[in-house]
Amino acid sequence: MDYKIPAEYELGIPYLDEQHAQLVALTDQAQTLLKDDSTIHKLEQLTEILRGIQDYTVYHFTEEEAFMETFSYSRLDAHKKLHADFIKRLEKINGKLSDISPSTQDAVLEELLGYLRNWLFEHILSADKIMAEESLSFAFEDL
Ligand SMILES: [Fe+2]
Ligand SMILES: [Fe+2]
Repeated sequence: MDYKIPAEYELGIPYLDEQHAQLVALTDQAQTLLKDDSTIHKLEQLTEILRGIQDYTVYHFTEEEAFMETFSYSRLDAHKKLHADFIKRLEKINGKLSDISPSTQDAVLEELLGYLRNWLFEHILSADKIMAEESLSFAFEDL
């Protein structure tokens, strides 16, 4: 993978950091496509990328939740709820993409992508970081 997530977003758990980077790379790919005025069938291509983002997010959340269970994370249920709510949002967004009218397409998609990126970055910086800190303190408990 050629995308590196900014250092402040790193949890110090390499495989989860790689998955976060992959998610950000996918949203970057969508943004690049959105800005490219020469693209024909932009909505179809973006729909495909957004479905890919949803699939990868489901995969990442499953992995992250399994990790949290390994150390009986104290905020597991609340964190799972954040994940579930975001997936619901993604499903809703993806279900409505075909309704977007060509005249507002770019503006709507830009807002959607902005929302997705912000959610992901904020979630990593807050909920995921707090989780990672607890996992590290758990790891050092036995030393
Ligand atoms: Fe995460
Ligand atoms: Fe998370």
